[in-house]
Amino acid sequence: MSLDKTSDFYIPPNQRLIVALDVPNIYEAKSLVDKLGSTVEFYKIGLELATTRDYFDLLNWLTNQGKSVFADLKLYDVPATVSAAVRQLRDTGATFLTVHGDKSIMEAAASEKGDLQILAVTVLTSMDNEDLKQMGIGLDVEDLVLERAKLAISSGCDGVIASGLEVQTLRQTLGNEATIVTPGIRPADSSVIDDQKRIVTPKSAFEDGTNYIVVGRPIRNAIDPKSMAETIQAEIAAAI
Ligand code: C5P
Repeated sequence: MSLDKTSDFYIPPNQRLIVALDVPNIYEAKSLVDKLGSTVEFYKIGLELATTRDYFDLLNWLTNQGKSVFADLKLYDVPATVSAAVRQLRDTGATFLTVHGDKSIMEAAASEKGDLQILAVTVLTSMDNEDLKQMGIGLDVEDLVLERAKLAISSGCDGVIASGLEVQTLRQTLGNEATIVTPGIRPADSSVIDDQKRIVTPKSAFEDGTNYIVVGRPIRNAIDPKSMAETIQAEIAAAI
């Protein structure tokens, strides 16, 4: 992985916090980025902004300022369409792109990725064993996550999105070179109660072996977002 500062895989602590820009428009997105200033270097822009006309303007605006961008578009279509979409996206300057974890989709994305890093969504965290049964899948969520994660790496993807509760097993199974990105993070002293059920602290996610965490509401809704981001980065630096 990336803990050894001399390793090619080393990632500095302030690059390991990805802030989720889950806001309805480019104005609110830019306002939060401006508030966070030089503290935050990595942003995730997903489907909410992708359904505005300004998605690629925002992506360009971020990369022009030297920020890294995670395009969380969760692509899912026939392989030819996924390849074509990845071909278009690889020149935008984004660092990460998500696709769903079906073999043909992951292979199609990987075949056109260029410098873009493809992360697979193994099983959406909103799905449980009952949902899988309805889809005719006989495996438990945990087993399916593991199978799809292995498939992601053998299909040429760079890594996976994993909840904090799965990181340790995935790191042991996938080895050190796979990238793991973990959402559903709540700071140790967080009193926020919301829809995220499978939450872990930044410290435990990094101790278990994640490479990056995605944090939205704890920073966005903080009274002082910049200071909250700094607190989380300090927790990351202490854990790695
Ligand atoms: O506000 P919060 O910190 O919960 O935001 C988490 C971000 O990570 C959101 O953008 C959400 O869509 C995303 N995400 C998630 N769980 C997943 C995959 C993505 O919370 N399994």
